Amino acid sequence: MSALTELYGEIARCHLCEIAKNRTRTVPGEGAEDADIMFIGEAPGWHEDQQGRPFVGPAGKYLDELLAMVSLDRTKVYIANVIKCRPPSNRDPLPTEISNCRKWLDRQIEIIRPSIIATLGRYSMAMFFPGKSISKVHGTAQKWNSITCYAMYHPAAALHQQSLRRTIEEDMLRLPSLLTQAETVPEVKPEPQQLNLFEV
Ligand code: URA
Repeated sequence: MSALTELYGEIARCHLCEIAKNRTRTVPGEGAEDADIMFIGEAPGWHEDQQGRPFVGPAGKYLDELLAMVSLDRTKVYIANVIKCRPPSNRDPLPTEISNCRKWLDRQIEIIRPSIIATLGRYSMAMFFPGKSISKVHGTAQKWNSITCYAMYHPAAALHQQSLRRTIEEDMLRLPSLLTQAETVPEVKPEPQQLNLFEV
């Protein structure tokens, strides 16, 4: 059994949070175990909860289009979320849910060892760009534990706000060249985790 399949089993048995009671399925993540790029979104929505797969609703269809713009598809990258269960009524993830779920994401990163982590939206950005605001850091990269982290808006934000479409598409188009230069991105000194989830 692959390390990821084993991990998915552990995630499916996790009941640390209240929201585990209402889930249809856990949504651990999917993609290539040796992916160079790992995308990290926020939390499963209704469609993801039904299917147990990340980004399969409208935001996911748009993510597929963004990937195609740089000749990528789901089989070549890895896609995960900050939390693995759907929050009721699609509310924002709670700090306790994020911290309970962190160990799963850390294990995924450890197994995949991507060259680039592309954060999608504020919640995953807050983990790798602590204290920063997405309007300032989107389209920029910094190293975290030797992995190049690249901040992007969430595809759903671009679906709801037309003006962000161009921005997210331009940011996606920078990914291939970042991949070739990932080694040269400077390492930042780790700062204490500081969540800044409320500034868009
Ligand atoms: N939004 C996310 O952040 N993740 C999903 O899997 C779907 C929508």
